[in-house]
Amino acid sequence: MYKIAVIGGDGTGPEVVAEALKVLDAVARRRNIAYETHAFDFGGDRYLRTGEALPSSAVEDLRGFDAVLLGAIGHPDVKPGILEKGILLRLRFELDQYINLRPVKLYPGVTGPLADKGPEDIDFVVVRENTEGLYCGMGGIQKLGTPDEVAIQVSVNTRKGVERCIRYAFEACRARGKRKRLLLCAKTNVLTYAHDLWERVFHEVAARYRDVETDYAHVDATCMWMTLQPERFDVIVTDNMFGDIITDLGAAIQGGLGIAAGGNINPDPDGVSMFEPIGGSAPKYKGKNMINPLAAISSVDMMLRHLGEVAAGKSIEAAIMRVTERKLKSLAAGRMGYTTTQVGDLVCEALA
Ligand code: IPM
Ligand code: MN
Repeated sequence: MYKIAVIGGDGTGPEVVAEALKVLDAVARRRNIAYETHAFDFGGDRYLRTGEALPSSAVEDLRGFDAVLLGAIGHPDVKPGILEKGILLRLRFELDQYINLRPVKLYPGVTGPLADKGPEDIDFVVVRENTEGLYCGMGGIQKLGTPDEVAIQVSVNTRKGVERCIRYAFEACRARGKRKRLLLCAKTNVLTYAHDLWERVFHEVAARYRDVETDYAHVDATCMWMTLQPERFDVIVTDNMFGDIITDLGAAIQGGLGIAAGGNINPDPDGVSMFEPIGGSAPKYKGKNMINPLAAISSVDMMLRHLGEVAAGKSIEAAIMRVTERKLKSLAAGRMGYTTTQVGDLVCEALA
């Protein structure tokens, strides 16, 4: 019996999570997967009501689950940073979800922005470090608001943190079994301390994975190749900040944030991982039944595979592909040709 924590969160989060749960229910019935869900009301509304982003018991409570399904965090009435740091980053850090796994895959029938690229060209995975780098929150401001103001934001890169991320990426690349090529994306020509560590550790770990080919590109060049020759990529490993940036570009070339999902993974057997559509809370579409739920549905696919229910996950992906290929006019909110709930229904029907 899987215990799934569900955080609908802000904006359109609850709407897309409802569709994701509908698909989870349909798959679980077909495949006799026993699960129970427990909803948590973390998000902007709760913060505005109580003044705390997460109750003190939240992290301990979530540790008791097999996985977390998250909708979106971000509220127009809450200053940027409070909920992101107080909920999303705090959960990633405290649950030690040190991998952010983001597949970039163009599904059939989807018109992406790259005119001459099809599904055979856009199919790679980004392994983003998820607990260190510029996201650590270290630094400060002195002489605030004066002409002498100093702002420092530190990037933390530990050998342990870098190594476990790179090792995971090699394993993922091997398990994926496609081109078996792992590319390190960094900026070794400028970040001569932090990314020197990344580069050294990358080669050290590579020695234990002789079957995986290694490659390197600076982050700026990576962005260029992602648009010009996405077929070059198999698995990319990178730090937290660069991973954040290149995965929005990745989402764009796979048809937009409506389809892009990610997993915040703690690979430890007892670790609790959290799966989310990466698109954010899209407040302007809230309550309109217009947003695309496929990214949230795809995060259920990732969650099931992570839990070991690989066939169930694959069946969701196959259903999503049937829907993108045969039904949807576009992946964009309001232009799909169907409502949010109808898209959820279409995926359930396509599971057959
Ligand atoms: C993401 C988001 C978050 C990040 C924000 C909301 C803190 O952009 O999941 O990519 O930067 O990691
Ligand atoms: Mn992001």
